[in-house]
Amino acid sequence: KKNGYPHYMLKEIHEQPDALHNTITPRLRDGLPDFSDDGIPDQVFADCDQIAIVACGTAMYAGMVGKALMEPLLKIPVSVNIASEYRYESPLVDEKTLVIVISQSGETIDTLAALRLSKERGAKVLSVVNVKGSTIARESDYVFYTHAGPEIAVASTKAYMVQLSSLYLIGCRMAMVRGKFTEQEAAAFVDQLLSSIPAVEKILEHKSRIKTAAGVLSKAKDAFFVGRGLDYAFSLEGSLKLKEISYIHAEAYAAGELKHGTIALIEENTPVIAVATQDHIYGKTISNIREVRARGAFVILITKKGAEIPEGICDIHFEVPVSDDRFAVFPVAVILQLLAYYTSDLKGLNVDKPRNLAKSVTVE
Ligand code: F6R
Repeated sequence: KKNGYPHYMLKEIHEQPDALHNTITPRLRDGLPDFSDDGIPDQVFADCDQIAIVACGTAMYAGMVGKALMEPLLKIPVSVNIASEYRYESPLVDEKTLVIVISQSGETIDTLAALRLSKERGAKVLSVVNVKGSTIARESDYVFYTHAGPEIAVASTKAYMVQLSSLYLIGCRMAMVRGKFTEQEAAAFVDQLLSSIPAVEKILEHKSRIKTAAGVLSKAKDAFFVGRGLDYAFSLEGSLKLKEISYIHAEAYAAGELKHGTIALIEENTPVIAVATQDHIYGKTISNIREVRARGAFVILITKKGAEIPEGICDIHFEVPVSDDRFAVFPVAVILQLLAYYTSDLKGLNVDKPRNLAKSVTVE
């Protein structure tokens, strides 16, 4: 069942290129996103004046990436909401809001309650769901199915990956419908999205160095993930993955926030995983890394291939092959997943079934 892999998680990490392919290609017609087979009319994308993304956990972190991608692209407000908070707040959703609900299982109770509240308020609900015919899929106005196949490991990997690709496709179609993308621009965007598949494969070919880095993490009590913008959105998921399967306390911070308190926690050899793939803020992130470095942090740095790396800035460096910064998340996610995976395995923990957690959360 595990196809020769020691754990479902590792098997599922390796299934990501196929999962991406299966989710993206059925939605392409003449190289452009087209959701007619999904029954999602363009009207849904034209009619709204804001987007509210609602989800829990990893799915919510996929939403954070979605926001960082969509807001500058569409020039409308995009909010990301924790379902268990949203449902008890008084969310500002109305008929002009497109609510995007994200859920692998389609059964998460808080997410379902948030969906029902959104519909009561008159919003249209588009859900991004992996499990066919699940409750969230049945109750949504429109469903965009991710095709990850069954995910067995409690820690979500391939589902996150395809949630991201779905949000990229939705963002692209929406930009076309709303006149923010010409057909050429949309086609170029889709090309970049497709090139994330070989980028993910490339990381999978070089796992051994990631295992070496995990050797350091496995001895740590705390770890920090830092990045800005999209890099911060990826870091949140990296930190959750490490916490949930390795039981190491981990936090993700927007790199510029460190000096407002958190830097007090950095000691000699505290691991800091710094994600710096975004050109326009690269220099700023690097200066934040210098600050933790000066306090003795053990720095694992992730940049784009070819980035200029200042002398002595890090202990371990990983590069991701991307040309358009917006697509860095795909290979970066694989590095962060493998870091968590190997750390848990090196600690001899139950990778696929971490303590206290369930795959589908149907309690409030
Ligand atoms: C973490 C993880 C959880 C889920 C969350 C939502 O690895 O898997 O954080 O992402 O419980 O679950 P779904 O997507 O089924 O609604």
